[in-house]
Amino acid sequence: MYFIGVDLGTSAVKLLLMDEEGKIHKIVSKEYPLFLPYPGWSEQRPEDWYSQSMEGIKELLEGMDKKQVAGISFGGQMHGLVALDCQDQVIRPAILWNDGRTAEETEYLNEAIGRDRLSDYTANIAFAGFTAPKILWLKKHEPENFARIAKIMLPKDYLAYRLSGVFCTDVSDASGMLLLDVKNRRWSKEMLEICGISEAVLPTLYESSEVVGTVRKDVAEELGIPQDVKVIAGAGDNAAAAVGTATVGDGACNISLGTSGTIFISSKQFRVDENNALHSFDHADGYYHLMGCMLSAASGNKWWMEEILKTSDFQSEQEEIQNLGQNRVFYMPYLMGERSPHNDPDIRAAFVGMGMETTRKDMTLAVLEGVAFGLRDSLEIARKLGIDPERTKICGGGAKSPLWRKIIANVMNMKVDIIESEEGPGYGAAILAAVGCGVFDSVEKATEKLVHVTATEEPDPELVCRYEERYKKFRELYPALKNFYSV
Ligand code: XUL
Repeated sequence: MYFIGVDLGTSAVKLLLMDEEGKIHKIVSKEYPLFLPYPGWSEQRPEDWYSQSMEGIKELLEGMDKKQVAGISFGGQMHGLVALDCQDQVIRPAILWNDGRTAEETEYLNEAIGRDRLSDYTANIAFAGFTAPKILWLKKHEPENFARIAKIMLPKDYLAYRLSGVFCTDVSDASGMLLLDVKNRRWSKEMLEICGISEAVLPTLYESSEVVGTVRKDVAEELGIPQDVKVIAGAGDNAAAAVGTATVGDGACNISLGTSGTIFISSKQFRVDENNALHSFDHADGYYHLMGCMLSAASGNKWWMEEILKTSDFQSEQEEIQNLGQNRVFYMPYLMGERSPHNDPDIRAAFVGMGMETTRKDMTLAVLEGVAFGLRDSLEIARKLGIDPERTKICGGGAKSPLWRKIIANVMNMKVDIIESEEGPGYGAAILAAVGCGVFDSVEKATEKLVHVTATEEPDPELVCRYEERYKKFRELYPALKNFYSV
């Protein structure tokens, strides 16, 4: 049997074909454009996600026995607002997770409605980028579009809808809408009222490994796959990545270095940090998780390499870097504003501390370190809650870099476990499909069998000390510069 895992990312959709033993047979990636029409805005066309996913699936299945395909599932970029009218037409481009246009609506929710009430209803407060502030933005700035809304869904749910005809979402992804009562895994009536929408426009909620339906007849014919191929709800990309790295059950940790950078801690208990600086979301394993999210991680490094240094040879650029813990240059990684922990859409990136002796390598190192320090900010909040994981898994494009993994291990003072494949969300999605198709009894049992650690990066006590000093200095930068920027 084959399972298709779809990782609907921000720069591309990655598709992966896995068998029931967990072996990856093929990976295909298809890009689509990202539109940044105004500073701080970030949009994509849902039709591009669908057409590129269909092309990708066709390529993935070329030369394979298509009759063996049993299930398909998703890990999708979270929080995006996809709105359809009553003819199922996409009303406007999707407003993505890293879009910062909702500062006013976010402030209204947090200040006028109040953080405490939001936290009571949803276990979270508003962050620019979450779905609810975007709904309020649409209501105010595009009332004619708001009036047309018949269905609201998240990016991966648009794919599930086009493939199966079922209007569905899963609880991990729905957690990031600020419309879900995360503790009880149901829509919050209070939040629907605050946003001026009815439950009828929201998808049916599923657990991530639940079957929502089968592929539509026309889709099956176009792809050449059987008509009984199951469509499984899937998860937000971070929860899917956590499944793909076996970050399930209690107290396991995963760091994802993708377009965003996240630190994800699984928990069997529902918990909320008192300042809501970490997101408190449902997990794809049936339990919960806490998460901190940076808006620019590997994307920041890509920007530095490709836009500024004009190179795509990341490896050579990093190869001779040695002065870990001694860099005098700091980098604030806030190219798109920042989510965790600052919740500040207006802040921007900065290099600080260059002298005539500063080299290109120092600045490249500063970029990698800046992301690690940003993730450490979220880890510190977890530590204050008494959660202090000794080790973490790592995934995403940035996880390919041995240098970056070493920096992470020492800045965080955590053992970093490297697994066979860094394809977190796609692999997790395929695992969810296999669970949905009954190959495994539970997500936890599936990951126990399928996910293997191949190496571990151990922190070096001397380097940890040096980075501790650097981190203290890094923490001074945000308060010093936060009032400097306005978009
Ligand atoms: C998580 C978040 C990002 C996106 C990236 O809250 O916004 O990690 O899911 O795809």
